[in-house]
Amino acid sequence: MKTQVAIIGAGPSGLLLGRLLELQGIANIVIEAKSPDYVLSRIRAGVLEQGTQTLLREAKVGERMDREGHVHDGFALSFLGRLERIDLHALTGGKTVMVYGQTEVTKDLMDARAQSGSLSFYSADDVALHDFHSDHPSVSFTSNGQKHIVECDYIAGCDGFHGVSRKSVPPESIRLFERVYPFGWLGILSRTPPVSHELIYANHERGFALCSMRSSMLSRYYVQCSLDDKVDDWSDQRFWDELRTRLPEDAAASLITGPSIEKSIAPLRSFVAEPMQFGRMFLVGDAAHIVPPTGAKGLNLAASDVYTLYNILRLRYQQNRLDLVAKYSEICLRRIWKAERFSWWMTSILHKFSDDPFNQRIQEAELDYYTSSLAGKTTIAENYVGLPYEAVE
Ligand code: APR
Ligand code: PHB
Repeated sequence: MKTQVAIIGAGPSGLLLGRLLELQGIANIVIEAKSPDYVLSRIRAGVLEQGTQTLLREAKVGERMDREGHVHDGFALSFLGRLERIDLHALTGGKTVMVYGQTEVTKDLMDARAQSGSLSFYSADDVALHDFHSDHPSVSFTSNGQKHIVECDYIAGCDGFHGVSRKSVPPESIRLFERVYPFGWLGILSRTPPVSHELIYANHERGFALCSMRSSMLSRYYVQCSLDDKVDDWSDQRFWDELRTRLPEDAAASLITGPSIEKSIAPLRSFVAEPMQFGRMFLVGDAAHIVPPTGAKGLNLAASDVYTLYNILRLRYQQNRLDLVAKYSEICLRRIWKAERFSWWMTSILHKFSDDPFNQRIQEAELDYYTSSLAGKTTIAENYVGLPYEAVE
């Protein structure tokens, strides 16, 4: 089989890149290790920056997002029993975010690809990348017991943190930066109305909490937990009691609880691989970087990588701009490190790192300072709605 771009992974990065390329007439094949149902069973954050929304509309998959998504023009930070609002709209000259689940984004992209007739292989085994330092890269894999080889011009490694693409690079050619945090997030989904119409990020001396949502009747809540905790240690009752304790009084009093329909524990990590390009192979999204979920940047960073690679490949094929191809990594990393910084900072000021009361007071002072200063609030707001995309030129 021959194609122009072989895409490894059918998460949001791989599917969005495939869709944008296909609309420009650039042929691509998606190769995914899991089944479509498995891919759609993953529950992840659902806060879309304006840049992500624009890109989804450009990919002609924005219709349901615009119909069913919720525009949020602010969110709240809670500490010392106070609730301080960050007015995203007013502080950024009219920018907002859209709350629309990542699972829904993936589903819309999958449906669009199924309709377009572009080729995808799901449940692929033994995926391997070959010769990406030559002019003739290829990807081999097994599907339904049959071995396939896709010959291509470029390989997009969109296969997430545990994927094969980054691991195909010799260790001496890649530099990894990592921070693993000493706690996790216990998350639940419940068919209850959200406690507030906007997200609440809470600092509390017992640990972080987050109130989020998927819709007016579907809530997503998190509490910081120990990495040793197991989901079974947390009955619904224990979860709700702990969440209530960590929220300001008014919010705690109006919290409506119900049975959880999903409950899971996720570790928190910051991670960046440099560079993100090896000859004719590009790392995209979680394959190249991970952020802790505190700034809601994971999917948005994946989208900005896709924006960069899509435009580079579009100009490469349509205007023969071969010079741009080597710039992918440099362009992406500038924005990635700024989002890594913001996600690390939000994590640092909102979580309990130790029993040292000095740390707690410093966090409270930092939150008090940032939320009482226009400059401080503006800094938070402009990072939360998403920094501008770097130009592809
Ligand atoms: N071969 C083929 N596909 C693979 C392989 C492999 N060896 N290994 C992993 N995959 C697939 C996974 O099954 C998954 O469907 O690659 C896909 C990667 O998808 P994601 O992990 O969702 O990564 P990405 O598309 O970059 O999306 C980034 O996802 O993890 C969140 O917070 C993150 O929101 C961000 C978004
Ligand atoms: C979520 O809704 O799952 C969510 C929202 C915001 C975050 C993280 C997760 O920062």
